[in-house]
Amino acid sequence: MLADNVDRILITEERIIERTCEIARQVSADYEGKDLWLICVLKGGVTFLVDLMRKITIPHSVDFMATASYGASTESSGEVRILKDLDDPIEGRHILIVEDIIDSGRTIDYVTRILRERKPASLRICTLLNKADRREVDVPIDYIGFDIPNEFVVGYGMDFDQLYRNLPFIGVLKSEIYDM
Ligand code: IMP
Ligand code: MG
Repeated sequence: MLADNVDRILITEERIIERTCEIARQVSADYEGKDLWLICVLKGGVTFLVDLMRKITIPHSVDFMATASYGASTESSGEVRILKDLDDPIEGRHILIVEDIIDSGRTIDYVTRILRERKPASLRICTLLNKADRREVDVPIDYIGFDIPNEFVVGYGMDFDQLYRNLPFIGVLKSEIYDM
């Protein structure tokens, strides 16, 4: 079983849902009357996006972007590539990027710099998890679900070597799994 490779649960499904509802309420209030576009960074952000959007009560659109990820390693290579770009222009729109986790900050820094060139009306960042201790690039984050310690986590969309995304909670993997 996948869950057998988890050392411990860091954030339960209940706490994720509770916090997601709080953020959705905040976003709904902050963007009332605005042309809101949620931009999800694939693949890890998709679980959070889907739960978040269902709790947002104002009209909004979604679009997707994919960047090169960690592969089988747990360390950022520092190199970020766009694998899939947005379908639609974002000029004049209020953009909220929805991320699973911000670690070194390199990915989100790259994505925001690219999107800013397209002249959105506003550009803000929402991340479920924040690993502040690991930050290498300073990026302002507008909505944070949870600040977490410097540990490699899986579940709720996040993977190790493309597995564990389906776990409903956020867990810390047994170190022997990624030390192999
Ligand atoms: P950054 O560029 O170092 O901020 O890393 C961003 C991306 O790396 C995240 O969007 C995740 O896809 C992935 N990532 C970072 N830390 C973790 C983790 O602990 N577990 C799973 N994926 C992670
Ligand atoms: Mg991600």
